[in-house]
Amino acid sequence: MRFFLILITLLTSSFIHADSRGWLLDPKTEDARFERLQTYLGGFSSTMMETGQRFGSIHDALSRDNPELARYHWSKIRQAIEVGIIKRPARAANAKAMLLDNTWAQVDAAFASGNPATAWQGYEQAKGACMACHIAEKVGFMNSQPLFERTAPDLAASCKAQGGKWVKAGRAQTPMCDIPYNDAGKACSDSDQCQGSCVSSERQRGKKTKGQCSASPAAAFGCYALVSKGVSRGMICVD
Ligand code: HEC
Repeated sequence: MRFFLILITLLTSSFIHADSRGWLLDPKTEDARFERLQTYLGGFSSTMMETGQRFGSIHDALSRDNPELARYHWSKIRQAIEVGIIKRPARAANAKAMLLDNTWAQVDAAFASGNPATAWQGYEQAKGACMACHIAEKVGFMNSQPLFERTAPDLAASCKAQGGKWVKAGRAQTPMCDIPYNDAGKACSDSDQCQGSCVSSERQRGKKTKGQCSASPAAAFGCYALVSKGVSRGMICVD
């Protein structure tokens, strides 16, 4: 008897199940369906889950010297937050003021700069904006998690370990790792004989001159004459 009861229950429930058109079509009215969608799609926290995930991926990308991937995630973070604002307009003011209006473009430019130190500065700037908005939105407790403890690597230390000097080069004072070229100071008559450039102090363009291979990447800044085919190409100054 008990067996039959269970069988009947199973059969009827499977009939009921067969009638179902699915969780989104079952409600009778459009309003009720949209209500389900709205609940399912969540509010600002789903935006922030994605943002957090992608921000971690930005750290990974920069660590692998892949700034294109960092930029990709950064643009997706912008899109995610814009969608988040549609869902929760009350978050818009701080999201715009602290991230979208200015900081976003500055960080994007830093990732696009081609200079690892500048890119990591951008990363730290972004992190500061994230954490500031959490405090402004009264969810400061979000800042105490491993994601926000991932910092820029100590580029200066790793540069020294490679035999380089951590210098600020040019008028923009861009920090860079200046590792001397192996052939620094070698006699040359053209840059294709050097790791860097073939340079001399001969100011006069077109005059025959002996060249020397440049010392290091940072030596690309300053005033010098490039030598090609044993001839000075005239003095240039690189800021
Ligand atoms: C509008 C300001 C604002 C900005 C800008 C912002 N957040 Fe948030 N974040 C919040 C709020 C608010 C929450 C809490 C979510 C909620 O209450 O719905 C949150 C929650 C989070 C969470 C936890 C999400 C979860 O539910 O697990 C993470 C991770 C996070 N943010 C990462 C970031 C990162 C990374 C950035 C910067 C790229 C960032 N946030 C920028 C406001 C912001």
